[in-house]
Amino acid sequence: MVERIVSTFKDRFGSDPLVFRAPGRVNLIGEHTDYNNGFVMPAAINRYAYFAIKPNGLGLYRFHAADFRRDYTTPVYKIEPSNTHWANYLLGVIAQMVAEGKDIPGFDCVFGGDVPIGAGMSSSAAIESGLAFALNHIYGLGFTRMQLAQIAQRAEHEYAGVKCGIMDQFASLHGKQNHVLQLDCRSLEFEPFELNMDNHSIILVNTGVKHSLASSEYNKRRQECQAGVDILKKYNNSIQSLRDVTINDLNNHKREFSSKVWERCLYVVEENQRVVNAGKALTQKDFESFGKLMYQSHYGLRDMYEVSCPELDKLVELTEKLDYVVGSRMMGGGFGGCTINVVKNAHIDEFTKCVKENYKTPDGKIPQIITCVISNGAELLVY
Ligand code: GLA
Repeated sequence: MVERIVSTFKDRFGSDPLVFRAPGRVNLIGEHTDYNNGFVMPAAINRYAYFAIKPNGLGLYRFHAADFRRDYTTPVYKIEPSNTHWANYLLGVIAQMVAEGKDIPGFDCVFGGDVPIGAGMSSSAAIESGLAFALNHIYGLGFTRMQLAQIAQRAEHEYAGVKCGIMDQFASLHGKQNHVLQLDCRSLEFEPFELNMDNHSIILVNTGVKHSLASSEYNKRRQECQAGVDILKKYNNSIQSLRDVTINDLNNHKREFSSKVWERCLYVVEENQRVVNAGKALTQKDFESFGKLMYQSHYGLRDMYEVSCPELDKLVELTEKLDYVVGSRMMGGGFGGCTINVVKNAHIDEFTKCVKENYKTPDGKIPQIITCVISNGAELLVY
């Protein structure tokens, strides 16, 4: 991959670039909690967006998307959302840096990667975070990794129209080999803790259903959560988000909620508690308890938050009878993408066989099955 990106860069632009990469992520537990100021437990994985990049002194941003063999060029003074969908993830990052008062001179950039698109593994965050990290380096902008994550998140809000939380961009920038990151999305404090899975592996199964987060449902969930906060705030003005809400608060005011808003809020409050419990279970290497929390998370996402889909449910249900799978659930925004499974190593082949025999993607293919390696966040590569 690196060679391909570099040689494409040399062919098109005739000089030697610097090369950066930023990973996609998994999330062990804590779904749809980030934009509610709650807890998440992501980890960066060995699937990346790669960038070959170099200032060009031409007053132009010249991009080449190696995976689709497409170009996009714009003068530096004309940063605005484009009709070219993929370019928006890049332009959005530049726009946010300019909004922070930085000067971003023209550059050439070839990018491509192997994070599956629309699979809930944060390919868009890898692109945003990778470009943000690369520009910070080549122009010495001095942003911290957390600031870069926030810039990348705002790029997604304003140029891709998805009002996402911070989890994906955070994970892509802060990943640490063999570690999961337990992040408090309210204080932005986080603790990487070593993931010692003993004889277990983290395996993703891709439904082959491409989710479209921008397809309004994601933003709608965010609004529903806010509607719940607005009700409770009237009684207690220290409530700023669902993070500050207890199950008692919800029960006490149940009658003022529509049933949907109440279920959305209850799911989030319960999921936050599950992340805390999951962290404890993992430190004690209590994989059974951890796995049960994963299933509960899935059922909450399916029945209360309503962001699953029949294909995800089918894959999770398939594992319920397999005693070598300790936990399984949908991962990421939902409506498609992957399930994340914790599987006993001795049975990985059996698991793969079982999935292939019992599940086909909507276009009739064998699903993609990915064994994850937990990796470092965005970095400069020596090639
Ligand atoms: C997407 C968003 C994240 C997060 C997850 C759901 O991946 O980008 O911010 O909200 O969905 O947990």
